[in-house]
Amino acid sequence: MKNIGLHEPYLVGNEVKYLKNCIQANWVSTSGKYLELFEKKIKEITKTKFAIPVLNGTIGLHLSMILSGVGKDEEVIVPTITFVATINAIKYVGANPVFMDTDQYLNIDEDKTIEFIKNNTNKKGKYSINIKTKKKIKALVIVHTFGNAAKFEKLYSLCKKKNIKIIEDAAESLGTFYKFNKFKKKYTGTIGDFGIISFNGNKIVTCGNGGVLLTQNKKYYKQAIHLVNQAKNDNTRFIHDKVGYNYKLSNISAAVGLSQLEKLNIFIKKKKIIRNLYKNKIKKIKNLDMFESPNYSDNNNWLNLVKVDEKKSKKKAIDLIKKINQLNFQLRPVWYPNHLQKPFKKCQRYKINNSIKLFKSCICLPSSSFLKKKQIELIVDSLKRFLK
Ligand SMILES: Cc1ncc(COP(=O)(O)O)c(C=O)c1O
Repeated sequence: MKNIGLHEPYLVGNEVKYLKNCIQANWVSTSGKYLELFEKKIKEITKTKFAIPVLNGTIGLHLSMILSGVGKDEEVIVPTITFVATINAIKYVGANPVFMDTDQYLNIDEDKTIEFIKNNTNKKGKYSINIKTKKKIKALVIVHTFGNAAKFEKLYSLCKKKNIKIIEDAAESLGTFYKFNKFKKKYTGTIGDFGIISFNGNKIVTCGNGGVLLTQNKKYYKQAIHLVNQAKNDNTRFIHDKVGYNYKLSNISAAVGLSQLEKLNIFIKKKKIIRNLYKNKIKKIKNLDMFESPNYSDNNNWLNLVKVDEKKSKKKAIDLIKKINQLNFQLRPVWYPNHLQKPFKKCQRYKINNSIKLFKSCICLPSSSFLKKKQIELIVDSLKRFLK
């Protein structure tokens, strides 16, 4: 059996046809039919009012910081467990992260974050000020980790009161939506002031490298379009009224992305099957549990995780990962907590403990949409063997 990666692209639709079309029409750069169709399709899927295709998810986060007005020496609240891009984007605008703990789904701990905002900030004029650092807290990032929607209804209301902008990092959760309550039927990325989705090669659908910035606010949309287009005011004379960016997605990438989006529903169905296959096999294994997904949302099941019961098992998750990676498939730990990473070590953190426990005990499993039952059996059997 050939190598099984953690999450690989599944290019089985109109990719080649659309790419050929792009090349034959000679529309390969930052405008063209596929960019328009890609944007339209994203709007249809997520029901967002506005979507701006950009070069990747990281850039979407950078733009969200700029448009939220986050500036030098200001602060952004963020969970410690996320891909480093979320934190880097805060640093790109000269601001600092304030790290929060995560809940049982590795999403931001809503209760602790509310406690932090209520007990550790003061409102001064328009803004919330961090009592300890005396800095303005301008934004909060919600990350929908591994495709699971984060719980943040109460936090959303509090941030509205405190004038803290909400940026949703929905890089991994395209297609995930809420089933109940205030956010019912809303897709991740479309609730906050800004949302971003990534189309990196390891996501549920890919452009190769690509992203999209979502907003429900026309003013922000217009500002974003202006910024990604080098802040050009006049196409004939090249007049620019501020420092802009060359951040637009290309028609070529959008062509691949469109073809992939046409398959999203099929991939989501396949991922439900993959999750159930894992679940059924794993429940028979001692000292190993399937990492649960929240039931308040319909999740895209982008990546499946298991949790090693480290109290009962003699084996640690990291030892299993190292052993199994010598075979022909790839396992991965959860991201290293960012408040412990060298560039962010001095940044403030608040009562972080669950993140560390889950970081130590969780293992990410191969979850590509094309995974076969036999491959899943092989993976789980190896886990079982090494756990003994
Ligand atoms: C949670 C999270 N945020 C941000 C990103 C950045 O997206 P991109 O790789 O498209 O820049 C990724 C993935 O790569 C991610 O998983």
